Amino acid sequence: MRRVLAYLKPYIPLVILSIAFLVGQVYTELSLPNLMSDIVDKGILLQGITPEERNGFIRSIGLEMLGVSLLSIACAIGSSFFAIRISAGVSRRLRRDLFAKVNEFSNAEISKFSTASLITRTTNDVTQVQNFITMGLMMMLFAPFMGLGSVYMALTLCRELSWTVLTAVIVIIVILGILMVVVMPKFKALQKLTDRLNLVSREGLSGMMVIRAFGNEEHEAERFREANEDLTFTTRFVMRSMALMGPVMALIMSGLQLAIVWFGAKLINLQELQLGEMMAFLQYAQHILISFLFVSAIFIMIPRAQVSAQRVAEVLDTEISIKDKEGAEDFDNVRGEVVFDHVSFRYPDAEEDVITDVSFTAKPGETTAFIGSTGSGKSTLINLVPRFYDVTAGSIKIDGRDIRDVKLHDLREAIGYVPQKAVLFSGTIESNVKYGNDSEDISEAIEVAQAAEFVYEREEGIEAPISQGATNVSGGQKQRLSIARALAKKPPIYVFDDSFSALDFKTDAALRAALKKYTGASTVLIVAQRVSTIMNAQQIIVLDEGKVAGKGTHRELLETCPYYRAICESQLSKEELG
Ligand SMILES: Nc1ncnc2c1ncn2[C@@H]1O[C@H](COP(=O)(O)OP(=O)(O)OP(=O)(O)O)[C@@H](O)[C@H]1O
Ligand SMILES: [Mg+2]
Repeated sequence: MRRVLAYLKPYIPLVILSIAFLVGQVYTELSLPNLMSDIVDKGILLQGITPEERNGFIRSIGLEMLGVSLLSIACAIGSSFFAIRISAGVSRRLRRDLFAKVNEFSNAEISKFSTASLITRTTNDVTQVQNFITMGLMMMLFAPFMGLGSVYMALTLCRELSWTVLTAVIVIIVILGILMVVVMPKFKALQKLTDRLNLVSREGLSGMMVIRAFGNEEHEAERFREANEDLTFTTRFVMRSMALMGPVMALIMSGLQLAIVWFGAKLINLQELQLGEMMAFLQYAQHILISFLFVSAIFIMIPRAQVSAQRVAEVLDTEISIKDKEGAEDFDNVRGEVVFDHVSFRYPDAEEDVITDVSFTAKPGETTAFIGSTGSGKSTLINLVPRFYDVTAGSIKIDGRDIRDVKLHDLREAIGYVPQKAVLFSGTIESNVKYGNDSEDISEAIEVAQAAEFVYEREEGIEAPISQGATNVSGGQKQRLSIARALAKKPPIYVFDDSFSALDFKTDAALRAALKKYTGASTVLIVAQRVSTIMNAQQIIVLDEGKVAGKGTHRELLETCPYYRAICESQLSKEELG
């Protein structure tokens, strides 16, 4: 909570302004009942004055009341104006910082929170905090001022009746206490149930095709129904209990009025109280009860806001595992020699190493290829180069410098990365290929990536739109565009993670031929499933369960590495094997 409230700091002048308006509002509202009592006691009931004097008196006090009311309205508008400005500002900054923070997250942190939860935290939870600040600024300060002021005013008017108010307050405290005990735990549960509903609906939406293909709609609907009903039941319980407050309060309020009038009338009879004074007392009593309600409403809101604030703070306070170390150096004019030096890697919280003691050197102008069965750690290995994860043991050096010693931005600038699962952003083909680089001419990159044929087939050419999630291009087209994106960057190091898997053999061959010319003096790291894709690489590294099972050219490996030979035999014909 404190972490989030610190965001109020820049708004302190506005907070003070808002408080000033609140004080104005309280002051004006407190003086109204007294003015009214003046009208009754001195204007209407007073004996022995001429009608003109009476009218004049009523008119002047009436005007005064009108002025005070207008002032009070102005103050109310002023204070809510600032309260809303402040809370909207705080939530804007919170969202901005959350987004920036999540952008720095490495895969480890993202999987710790889960994407669904990060989205709820940036939206729903921030809104909860915002609502709390708005209400807090408007009620939290208003209610105590108003309550204490009313108590003071009521006491100066008539001490004999104060026990009535006191009794009412005690009754309210008892009822609120019971309500708190019953409802409070449910409030905390609400946020968790909302999380769950989000998770189920997200999964349902993104997995729609699979759900339909497996005819599992009913199971999913059931899952959603459960989550939905849990949330509904809890919300209904909470709302009903809260709704009960309304009539109970009305009852107490009426009882209080009745008591005041009843006992006030006796005092008036004894000439100890005047009619106008009693009317004023009635109003102050009402103010006291209402302020009391406000204060208790705040107490009910606090735990809910606290849960949300905590969830937001958790994200903001997460220690980022991969970032520039202190004094990280610039990394320009990269040649691109990549050296793995006894590298081992284990996923956070995993029991075993996924990569064990891997060493190799990938030279500029050469292609280094990785092959191995699924799950052998190829993607993991290659993802260590752009530092999506940091090595657990050993080191990775580029041009002789440990990649953990240089600026992360410079390092990634030097790498053209094509992920195993192609990702495009909504926009156009051009905006996607130009993504993250300022290359003027992208036609060559499109040509080399073998994307020209389908790009220029379209009427709009490179202006052709890409829809959200790139659903309007095929898997292979997506892959080729994501290759073009890396090529357009013209980096010294290329990383292709199984980027040719969705291409037919002919396109694969054409791409490899064009790629060879295009990449020139750059270092190329390629992960592949097909032997034919990497046969001509200067160096092939065979991975088996995260260990290097063989290293060399295709020819050498056929001789020295039985595992590689087995892969080849399963894929190539006798003649191709030679
Ligand atoms: N984020 C992760 N957290 C924990 N374990 C992971 C994670 N990603 C992958 N693994 C594990 O690491 C191992 C290697 O996975 P990796 O993705 O590197 O395989 P791969 O060789 O690229 O396979 P494929 O050919 O199917 O792409 C697998 O056993 C997998 O279960
Ligand atoms: Mg992989």
